[in-house]
Amino acid sequence: MKEKVVLAYSGGLDTSVCLKWLQVEKGFDVIAVCGNVGQDEADLATIKQKALDMGAIASMAVDMREEYADDFLTHALAANALYENAYPLLSALSRPLLSKHMVAIAHEYGAKYVAHGCTGKGNDQVRFETSIKALDPSIEIVAPVREWDLHSREEEMEWAKAHGVPVPATKKSPYSIDDNLWGRAIECGVLENPWCEPPADIWTLTVDPTQAPDEPEYVEIGFDQGVPCSLNGEDMKFVDIVHELNIKAGAHGYGRLDLVENRVVGVKSRECYEVPGAKVLIEAHKALETLCLDAATQHYKLGAEQQWATAVYQGLWFSPLKMALDAFFTATQCFVSGAVKVKLYKGSCAVVGRTSPYSLYDFGLASYGAEDAFNHEAAKGFSDLHGLPVSTWSAKQGPASGLSAQAEEEAAA
Ligand code: ARG
Repeated sequence: MKEKVVLAYSGGLDTSVCLKWLQVEKGFDVIAVCGNVGQDEADLATIKQKALDMGAIASMAVDMREEYADDFLTHALAANALYENAYPLLSALSRPLLSKHMVAIAHEYGAKYVAHGCTGKGNDQVRFETSIKALDPSIEIVAPVREWDLHSREEEMEWAKAHGVPVPATKKSPYSIDDNLWGRAIECGVLENPWCEPPADIWTLTVDPTQAPDEPEYVEIGFDQGVPCSLNGEDMKFVDIVHELNIKAGAHGYGRLDLVENRVVGVKSRECYEVPGAKVLIEAHKALETLCLDAATQHYKLGAEQQWATAVYQGLWFSPLKMALDAFFTATQCFVSGAVKVKLYKGSCAVVGRTSPYSLYDFGLASYGAEDAFNHEAAKGFSDLHGLPVSTWSAKQGPASGLSAQAEEEAAA
């Protein structure tokens, strides 16, 4: 009897060649799994059938959108997750979800092997493999693209033709694209030169900000315990809110990123992203937190957010640190409910209002007007004690001039 392998199958050339290669070169029975995480993919039923036509013993297209939003993006939002303070992690968030389904399907079919079509140079292989190992250490991973000796797209096309793998009729775009509900990543082609401005044709979710409408658009986002629950006053599922905000903010040219980032495998890479919905939601969520979190929690959380984003970027979704950080973030979100108003205008998204029944903002304490309820006398004693360590230091070591040692020497000369 043949061994079975579960393949993460997208329907593109790479994973199609993988599907055939696993049968021809490795003698596997292949089970193809195509996950719908909200990517811009024409027809999942066709992709599913294509796998069967190429000899897969089973093929499935699994709708993971709601699970992606509710079990993955909610955590990312609670963590205001931006890797290196910039990238909302769209590819890093989808791989552990796909891995979870692949492992479950492997168990269901009694497959000992799981395969993916990632290269050896990227982050996604690390995310798949680390997630799969965390969920079932006994599963063996096969990475055909890392193993085979097809060194160019031409060689791959040749192999495909020789083995009856349908090759795309249209010319392939020069870019490598990965997309889902949380945004779109564009790499390769001319973007490999970090000095080269991204060509206009890479962007598909966002309009050029100079072409965006001349009138701003206001959007009100409701949150319940950190999770978006309404748009402009209308209750909506989180998954639909993300989708809707991608359209709205994209139409105003908001959410383009052009970055150089540090990959897990030690390489710096130039990446462009379109993340309109993700960025609006992170900005709005942060704004609500400024009302609802006490200062110490808010400050502590900033460091934890960085750690969470780095762990998830590095493929550690299913890891003790990341899960413990989730528990912390969940605890911080219990009063993060209310609404935030944003203004979308020609490539920008400005938070222009925030409100919450749990707001810690106290008008009497904050106001400089007649309603002022702040204890000004107490401030004098507070300042004395707050400054005590530095006044002690200054009395002992001499007054701090504010100049560098060199500037001080020059001033003395
Ligand atoms: N650099 C991003 C990341 O590592 C995007 C990866 C995109 N993946 C792809 N297969 N094109 O998360």
